[in-house]
Amino acid sequence: MYKSTIFVVIIAIGLTCYVKIFDETDNSIPTLPDTYWGPADKKSNNDISIKPFKINISNDVISDLNERLDKTRKYIAPLENTAWTYGVSSEYFKNIISYWRNKYDWNKRQALLNKYSQFITTIQGLDIHFYHIKPTTTVYNGKKLKVIPLLLAHGWPGSVVEFQKIIPMLTTPKENVDFIFELIIPSLPGYGFSQGAVRPGLAHAEIAVIFKNLMTRLGFNKFYAQGGDWGSIIVRDMAALYPENVVGAHMNMCMANGLKATFWQFIGLLVPSLVVPKEHAHRVYPLKNHFLRIMEESGYMHLQATKPDTIGLALNESPVSMAVYILEKFSTWTNPEYRFKEDGGLLEKYTMDELLDNVMIYWITNSMTTSMRLYAETFNTNNWGKYDKYPITVPTACAAFIHEVSYSPESVVKFQHTNLIQFNHFDDGGHFAAFEVPHLLSDDIWKFIQKVENNVDK
Ligand SMILES: *[C@@H]1O[C@H](CO)[C@@H](O)[C@H](O)[C@H]1NC(C)=O
Repeated sequence: MYKSTIFVVIIAIGLTCYVKIFDETDNSIPTLPDTYWGPADKKSNNDISIKPFKINISNDVISDLNERLDKTRKYIAPLENTAWTYGVSSEYFKNIISYWRNKYDWNKRQALLNKYSQFITTIQGLDIHFYHIKPTTTVYNGKKLKVIPLLLAHGWPGSVVEFQKIIPMLTTPKENVDFIFELIIPSLPGYGFSQGAVRPGLAHAEIAVIFKNLMTRLGFNKFYAQGGDWGSIIVRDMAALYPENVVGAHMNMCMANGLKATFWQFIGLLVPSLVVPKEHAHRVYPLKNHFLRIMEESGYMHLQATKPDTIGLALNESPVSMAVYILEKFSTWTNPEYRFKEDGGLLEKYTMDELLDNVMIYWITNSMTTSMRLYAETFNTNNWGKYDKYPITVPTACAAFIHEVSYSPESVVKFQHTNLIQFNHFDDGGHFAAFEVPHLLSDDIWKFIQKVENNVDK
């Protein structure tokens, strides 16, 4: 009798502590200001026009690039039989540089990137670049289709280049589906043709504000959003901050942050089945493997979160430096096994041209430093974890690709995503899903939005 009373008291105290410590949900949605990020002397300029834009890089920029590519120094040979396990192999990288210098045809690639219509508009002091693509038709099998605005958000070291293949998959009608997408694909502030802030503070939630303002400026008060990498975090923030505007959010890198999620992932060490279904357990446990991969792949993050301007300056001087740093990610983040291949597996899923298109976006726009500052803004103490606690009440979906760098089980993602209606696992694909497996990602987006639309109609 005495023992069981103690037992009950201990359980009660334990539960109270659990609830007290881990009660991170905060239902009051914060209102973020429309902060002005541009140069002080342009503040009076209230130009809200939307200007058509085409990429048009001068020949001078291209000849300067070629001169730099011609002036490389002697490469240090990789250690014997190490492939890409010490980082990019200089042995193979020579081929990439030679291709870039002699075969890659910028004018042709530029024309391809200009195939879809692009615009620039000034938001909160920054010129924001975006693709705006209307559906190929709005009538299918004699039926009028509902046109649904969908924002696609990229991450680092990606760009709008990643979405080129998925665009037609989302703007062409599908059998037995009565809607179609109108796509808005912005470059993140400080990335590619979108200007970066001139003062500190522009982190992911502040980008969510800018993108929401972009959508409403285009006349879209209700829209869907999709993203990977930073894009998934920005889209998550948009869903949390603007439930009135975001009808649904789809992410291909769902993360569960915060104390409670961390606690449960550790509980999973003892009893995995409490946290993740058996068939997916290998994606997180043994935690050691998961953790080692994150350690191996996240050195860049520490660097960029603390000294973005140092590494930015260094990479910006040489196209080889920039390509090495960027392309390493397209090897190991696509598949960890690729580091054992002599060519880093780069051409398993991508063409050399499309990989270089993405590098070119960083090179020609001089945007490496501004792109990397997003890490510093996010990981500073004011911002870290700030938006993990707001429940996301609008419908959300996660697509978990097998080689994604981090994996959070559905059970812990649900702590924040209180209306998670789809969580699909894929046995193919990695971090750059839109770029690598566009058909899988697009099918998953269609499925999710169909579910939401069916409920909206009811
Ligand atoms: C780029 O600009 C130049 C000079 O203004 C012009 O002659 C050329 O047609 C433009 N090219 C494209 C692809 O728009």
